[in-house]
Amino acid sequence: MGGFQRHRRLRSSQAMRNLIREHEWNVGDLIYPMFVQEGLSGSEEINAMPGIYHHGLDDFRREIGQISELSIPGIILFGIPQEKDDESSGAYAENGIVQQAIRAAKEENPELLVMTDVCLCQYNPAGHCGVVRGGEIVNDPSLNYIAQTALSHARAGADVVAPSDMMDGRVQAIRRILDEEEFHNVVILSYAVKYASAFYGPFRDAAHSAPSFGDRRTYQMDPPNVREAVREAQSDILEGADMLMTKPALSYLDVTRTIREQFNVPLATYNVSAEYSMVKAAAAKGWIDERAMIPEILTSFKRAGADFILTYHAKEAAVWRKDL
Ligand code: PBG
Repeated sequence: MGGFQRHRRLRSSQAMRNLIREHEWNVGDLIYPMFVQEGLSGSEEINAMPGIYHHGLDDFRREIGQISELSIPGIILFGIPQEKDDESSGAYAENGIVQQAIRAAKEENPELLVMTDVCLCQYNPAGHCGVVRGGEIVNDPSLNYIAQTALSHARAGADVVAPSDMMDGRVQAIRRILDEEEFHNVVILSYAVKYASAFYGPFRDAAHSAPSFGDRRTYQMDPPNVREAVREAQSDILEGADMLMTKPALSYLDVTRTIREQFNVPLATYNVSAEYSMVKAAAAKGWIDERAMIPEILTSFKRAGADFILTYHAKEAAVWRKDL
């Protein structure tokens, strides 16, 4: 009997390491976020997000084919409308860009899970996630707009609606309208735990959704708080959310772990735009090995307790997964 433990014994070969592996991600855990732009033909690469594009509708259809070939199970859609107005009418228009993209995706591949971001910020000139009155983002008047947006996505064929606006009561408002209209099978994935984060910077450029005044700190969560995250999650479950999300992902692994331990609903985490951009920028400089780092990052989300991951890395990760 030695006086110490031989931990290295179980690391001595790849087969042994595989045998005792505790956490693993698979292509089936990945959801690919996509930007569809009204009136665009072809595609345009997004400045701070190399490899991620604004897609016109035709190009979007082609891309759905690729995603399906890679066995990526689903996408989450963000729309960039041609016109914005104070009523955010593009968000819930029957023929809005997201509604068109949902139908197109389902035509290309009926099996693909189509999720939609439900929010107003891309659709009004103020660039806020709720309705603005007298310089304030007002909660209750926003709910009907949010609910109408979710309903229009359900009508177009979305499988999952994901409200990201952080207004209180939105999950209840959405569940109510979906029930009234008999969309009993549409899943609500709540961005329940969404922090006011600098990690959304590249996305706001991409989605043209930066606030024109103020910031999002009166509705998105304050980054130092984790007990508050539990309260947010609790109320969304009570209001009828089927699944929850934490966001951002990398700097909030502890939050994901906490939510996982407190609730039994399926949990997603959103590996957001700047988390992607940082990896891509360092890789472009030759400072890191992204092929090794990205799988390690994805593993960390599973280890923290996420069931699935929204990530801009989905396509490359799907290609690499075969060789891991
Ligand atoms: C819309 C929304 C945002 C993101 C997802 N939905 C931006 C924001 O809240 O400012 C961020 C996604 C990312 O950074 O990749 N409200």
